Formats: sequence, C-alpha cells, structure tokens
Amino acid sequence: MTQEKLVELLHSMSLKEKVNQMLQVTTGFFTDEKMLTGPTAQGEIGEENISQAGSLIGLFGAEEYRKQQKAFMEKHPHHIPFLDMLDVINGFRTIYPIPLGQGATFNPDLMKKCASMAALEASVSGIHVTFSPMVDLVRDARWGRVMESTGEDPMLNCEFARAQVEGYQGRDVKEAGKIAACVKHFAGYGAPVGGREYNTVELSENTLMEYYLPAYQAAIEAGAEMVMTSFNTLNGIPSTGNQWLMQEILRGKMGFQGVLISDWAAIEELCIHGFAADRWEAASLAAHAGVDIDMMTGVYCSKLPELVETQVLSEKLLDEAVLRILTLKNKLGLFENPYKDADPEKEKEVILCEEHRKLAREAAEQSFVLLKNEEMLPLNPEEKIAIIGPFAEEKEIYGSWSIIAQAQDTVSIADAVRTQTEFPHVSIAKGCEILSPKEYCLVTQAEAEKIQQRVEQQDRTQSSKALWKEAVKTARKADKVILTLGEHKNMSGEAASRADLRIPKIQRKLLKEIYQMNPNITVILFTGRPLDLRQIEKYAKAILVVWMPGTEGGNAIWNVITGAVSPSGRLPMSFPYCVGQVPISYNEYVTGRPCEDSSVSREYRSNYRDIPNEPLYPFGYGLSYTQFLYSKLSLSSTVLKPGEKLEASIVLRNIGDREGTETVQLYIRDCAGSVVRPKKELKAYQKITLAPDEEITVRFEITEEMLRFYRADGSYGSEKGIMGVMIGKDSNIRESAAFELQ
Ligand code: BGC
Repeated sequence: MTQEKLVELLHSMSLKEKVNQMLQVTTGFFTDEKMLTGPTAQGEIGEENISQAGSLIGLFGAEEYRKQQKAFMEKHPHHIPFLDMLDVINGFRTIYPIPLGQGATFNPDLMKKCASMAALEASVSGIHVTFSPMVDLVRDARWGRVMESTGEDPMLNCEFARAQVEGYQGRDVKEAGKIAACVKHFAGYGAPVGGREYNTVELSENTLMEYYLPAYQAAIEAGAEMVMTSFNTLNGIPSTGNQWLMQEILRGKMGFQGVLISDWAAIEELCIHGFAADRWEAASLAAHAGVDIDMMTGVYCSKLPELVETQVLSEKLLDEAVLRILTLKNKLGLFENPYKDADPEKEKEVILCEEHRKLAREAAEQSFVLLKNEEMLPLNPEEKIAIIGPFAEEKEIYGSWSIIAQAQDTVSIADAVRTQTEFPHVSIAKGCEILSPKEYCLVTQAEAEKIQQRVEQQDRTQSSKALWKEAVKTARKADKVILTLGEHKNMSGEAASRADLRIPKIQRKLLKEIYQMNPNITVILFTGRPLDLRQIEKYAKAILVVWMPGTEGGNAIWNVITGAVSPSGRLPMSFPYCVGQVPISYNEYVTGRPCEDSSVSREYRSNYRDIPNEPLYPFGYGLSYTQFLYSKLSLSSTVLKPGEKLEASIVLRNIGDREGTETVQLYIRDCAGSVVRPKKELKAYQKITLAPDEEITVRFEITEEMLRFYRADGSYGSEKGIMGVMIGKDSNIRESAAFELQ
C-alpha cells in the first residue's frame, strides 16, 4: 500500500478503531486461555476492542493463524489484519543456546544465522514480530534475566544486537522468512537494585549513555522495527511514562521511528509505581511519552478515547502512533497478503529440519566455556566413564523462554551416548533430581508441581535413595566421572532473581559424595547465569559451562567432551568469587586507592577484607584443549593522530598438540579523561584457529574513533592523552604498551 493510501485509511477510521490498533491482547482472548507472562487484563477490554485489536501475542501454528486472521479480518470494519507477536528468544521450535551462551561464542555472525533460522521457523508459523533482541547490559548475576542478554560488555552487546536484528529482519521484513525485531527493554532494565527483578534502576546520565544505551542504538541503526519499554523506574521515573527517555532520547537523539510497545501491563503499572494517580493519568503519561501499544491492559482502550475527546491528548499525537502501527503492517506486506509466510506445508519442511539442528549444534558447541581442565578432557575411548547427575537424561535444557520447545525434540547427553559406538564403556546414573522438595521455591509453582508429579510417578527403582546408591556405585567403578549439575531451566529468566548463586543443595551434596568415591570429576554445568563455583572448583578437576544449550545440547556436549570439537567459548560475563562481589564487571574504574597499589597501606585500599577483589573467572576467560603462547605486544607507533591508524600486534603460537581456537582480545585504557575511564575496555577481538606448532601474527588496527566516549560536558569524542594497550586471552591481561593520542 502506498503511504498516501495508508494515511487515507487512517483518516477513515473512527476514534475507537484507532485506539484499538493500540491494544495488544494474548491469543487467549480468542481461545479462553488468558495468561502468558504477567497479570491478566481486567474487565475493561470488551468484545469490540478484542475484535479490532491491532496486535496479538502468542498465536502460532500456520493453520490456526490463518483461521484466526481470516475470521478477524472479516469482522473488522476496515479489514485490517492483526500483527502476531511472540517471544522468539533463542529459537522457535529448534532451540539454540540461551543468549548468554550465544554471547560466549564471541561470534555475532553465528548469532545472526541463529536469528535468521528462528525467524524462518516463526514466520511459517504465522509470527510477524519477535520480542527480541534483549540488549540490556548486565553486571549482576542475581538477576534472572542475565540469561537473555549477551553479557557485560558494551561493544560485544552492540555487535550481537546488530547481528540479531539483521538475522530476524534481513534486508526487508517483507521478504519470505523474515520477521520484525523488537529491541527491549528500554532502558536500563539490566541494572535493578540488588539484582531483584522489576526493581528500581538508578544510573547517571553518563553511565546510561556510555554503557547501557549503545546496544539499543546499534539495534536501531540496524533497522529494528520495534522497541519495548522496560518495567523499571529510571532515576525515579518509570520508563513507560518517561517523556524525556522516550521522546528526547529514543525518538530524538537515537532517531527511532518505529513502533514503541509497553512491556506487559507496564502502562497500568504506572499507577502502582505511584507515578500516575489513576488509569486515566497513566494512559495520558504513556501516550505523551510516545508509547504506541498497550500490551495486555485495558488502560489505553478505555481511557484514550476520552483523553482525545477532552483534548488532553491531541488526535494528531494519537494518529502518529496509529500510523506507526499501520506502517509496520504495511512494511510486512500484510495489507496485500495478511497470511504472509504462514504455511502448514512449509512448517513441516523447515521446523526442526536437519539444517536447523546442525546450526543449533554448532552454536551450542561454540558456546561452551571450559573453565578448568586438569587432564580430564577430552575423554579417551578406553576409559570407563560414568555420566552422573540430574542433567544426564534431562531434556528440558533450553532455557525458560523457549515457549514452544518440546522435550521430545531435544537430545540429552544420555541420548547422545546411546547413539555412539566409539566409547563402549559409558554408564549413566541420575543420582538425584535437580531440586530437592525443600528447594521447589526456586522455580515457579507450576514447574514445582510438574517436578513433584514426575517424582511421584517414578517406581521404586527410581526412589531418591535408589538413585543415590546407583550413582555412588557407578562412580566407584569408573575411571572418570562426568558430573552433570546446575540450575533448573526455570531458575533463571523473568522473575527468577536469586540471592544465593550456588547450585541447589542436593546437588552440592551429590558432588561431595561422588568425590569421596572418585575424585576424577568433570563437572558439566548447566546454568542461565554466572554462579558461585567455589565448591565445584574445590572438588572438580575440570569444569565445562554449557549454559542452557538447546535442542542439540546433548550431541554438542558429547562432541566437546570426547574431543571431536575443541571448546572455544569465552565468558561474556564475569563469574564472581561469591555473591558478595556482585554487581561486578571487568570494566570497572580504578578508584583512588586500588587494591594493587602498594604505596597505600594495606588497611586502606579498595578491597574486601574477607574475599579477593577479582572474580573467580574473569570476563573473556575460557580454555581450549591446546595451549597458546603470546609474544610481547608491539605497536607500529607510539603516537596516534586523528584520521590515522596505529597497529597493535602479537605473535600467537599453538604450543599444544591439538588444533584449537583462541579468542585474542584487545583492551585499551584511556589513562586520564574528563570522566574517569575504565581499567580496560574491550575494543576488538579475533577468533584464530591454529594447528599444533602453527603461529600467526595477529594485528589490530587502532583508530581515534575507537577512543571516543561521553565526556564530562555530555559531548561524545576522544580526548588527547596516553592510552594503555593490552592484548591477551582474557580481561585479566595487564597493560604492556602505550601510545599517545594527539
Ligand atoms: C517480559 C517481556 C516479554 C513480554 C511478552 C514480559 O513479561 O518482560 O520481555 O517480551 O512479557 O511475553
């Protein structure tokens, strides 16, 4: 449809019809199942609103979609199709590793491919928009939603944000197999006080601009069609009603022109926050902030007509919002073809197809991070191997956002073992459940009931005592134990904050007991967040973090532990020494009395009296099955002028006896600035694969643009002075060269 026709359509709509475009309801309003992720909408949403709603959330399945859309359009006064949205976070039905795991790949191209495949599966099922990417920067492992982020580094987050948008949307969302991306949660949602979900966020404007906003900006520049507001207050004002944030920053400074949707019930929650006195004011505040769609409440559809009629809200502003929604429908081609890619035949063809499984496997393999390996891995076919623990047979290893994932599609470690023949001496024993009954509070009530039911249905050979005994016996007979431990998939994700970052108690007990039987333990750690690994570190000779690896998780783990694939993931978030350190990130400031400054007396340095300052495993850390040697860093010059380039390089050599992939990381420290600069900032990295004895010169180009930041006066640019340069295998690297920016 031409823009002219679109505007004509807008002007032919009644006020109520326009307002209904700004309403999003769940598909449950058509089918009676109303709940998806938040509170259920109150009685304000009437039949007429539902039959004209601009968008739906959660309708999938090509046939059902086509049926609902057809019936909907027939009833609609202008036959306008609804938009169909869903959280397609780490895959649709074929599940890739959780975003934090994908962050560990340090491979945005791979993430782009994953997003593209997820878009294909979702689009043939009728989805038009995914509520992804989530680009919130995260430093606090207590927050359950760190699993949805790609981590703590602003530069990496920008790259991954861009990659996901490009993967979902392609060059044109109208194209077959493409869906629109919705960047979330704007803004600062990743920094709730105390790591507690939905909590207050306090960030200085400088911190917001420098660290938190760049990834949203990158996604917008990549063409993201939608943005979602966040639940939190930002410096005292809830984002969803924050005119400065949405109008001045998002639409003004950042140039966003697409559709802005509230998070679930966030407009209504303006009242609960104590920002709006009533629902009427909440509607006015959100509409004036430029929020176009009210997700799942009746606030807009019940209050906006009156606000316009009483001229509190100009119809022009309302029209702008509705036009943005219609424009997105038009960009997706829905006026010409309201069914877009929804096709039951294609669904059969592409969903869970071999190509998608292969990619899921590759992504999982690249996401695993080897934290420790004292001659445990890779396994040897002659050895007697015991695979023990609650994740050995577990299939729900895809993370809490995999809405339509099914356990039956997933390959567990045990499944992978059963389909191989190379390792004949493998035995499997569960040992215990992921959680003991006392720990059911760590998951949602529905999930706890599911676990409880499963346990009750087990026969006597599966009783907790029998499982335990069997595991101990299996461990005793083995040469090596692969102990699968970790968080239940429901222990991270939305509303899953934790104050204790250890694995569940029952599993800690299992670890200790197995250790008594056999100390040759490799822990395979399933997790949605960085955990406190001190105890695991004490008892395990090797640790492999596998996050929530997805549909092909079992195969990928087997490939890595047997050495068919060498581990290459790097931590996208620091693993703290213990919970007392969080929030923590590698790019902190130095402070006036640094811990390592021996000129200050020990008592008065910036440190903890009881624990080290350093995380247990730093950002960027990860081992492979070989070893790499770094030469001294060399710089092509000690001076850099704007417009010129400088080269920093090292020689990297594989000194082990296997091929391996190293992620060579370049960090820079701006030694003095009008705003203090971090200890180090990741500026570039390269993933290099080398055969044994092979060596290569790894070169990085440094330009003045890379040294820009938000200065004290709010402007963006570099400042002259000395810059420290570091090239190394993780963020623990010390400064080894310097140049002057002139
Ligand atoms: C979450 C969003 C999500 C939305 C729709 C909310 O509870 O915060 O991230 O996109 O639900 O499912």
